Amino acid sequence: MTASPSRAPDHDIDSLFIERWSPRAFTGEAVPEAELMRMFEAARWAPSSYNSQPWRFLYALRDTAHWDVFFDLLVPGNQKWVKDTGAIVFLVSNSMMKAGDELKPSWSHSLDAGAASANFQLQAIRQGWHAHGMGGFDRERAISVLNVPLNHRVEAAYAVGRAVPRAELTPEQLPKETPNGRRPITDFAFAGGFKSPAA
Ligand SMILES: Cc1cc2nc3c(=O)[nH]c(=O)nc-3n(C[C@H](O)[C@H](O)[C@H](O)COP(=O)(O)O)c2cc1C
Repeated sequence: MTASPSRAPDHDIDSLFIERWSPRAFTGEAVPEAELMRMFEAARWAPSSYNSQPWRFLYALRDTAHWDVFFDLLVPGNQKWVKDTGAIVFLVSNSMMKAGDELKPSWSHSLDAGAASANFQLQAIRQGWHAHGMGGFDRERAISVLNVPLNHRVEAAYAVGRAVPRAELTPEQLPKETPNGRRPITDFAFAGGFKSPAA
């Protein structure tokens, strides 16, 4: 874990939540497929509406034929650091779900995929890897290149890799590789509802 004063929790929580963060300095180490499967296993156990499990993970491992295809979907700003990661993952959600015998639009497919995403990223930390989320990719091209079916939403991409240990960061990297902080709970948790509709 990278120490950062802005990363101190106000309440007693499992350190895993603080240890997860999004570095951009990676070692270039390949992620073994078995390691990625453990992360997907954690995602698998996320809760979802009607247990519909609408998440779909599409992945490319470093040094495989899929890597360049996935890498080319990312914006140049992300490619700059993703080149040193070990796997690229796209998270897609199915917006239709079965409720009994009926196929109907899901209210919560993105929320459910988000729960799977959190499990995935936290498990990565437990295994000694980091999964850095990305919205910076070409959505239209991702849909066609990745054969995303109708009624599915491409939610996000992730780069998974081994973060460069803090002690090995260059002086130029250090400020950029310092985990950020969070707004206080009072900014987002309100007893009894919002104070007014304008809030
Ligand atoms: C949906 C989503 C999209 C993001 N897009 C990018 C991105 O395109 N490039 C990037 O470097 N970081 C991206 N991030 C990382 C966020 O900037 C980061 O999670 C946020 O600043 C909180 O920092 P932390 O993850 O280190 O705690 C994204 C994160 C999420 C969840």
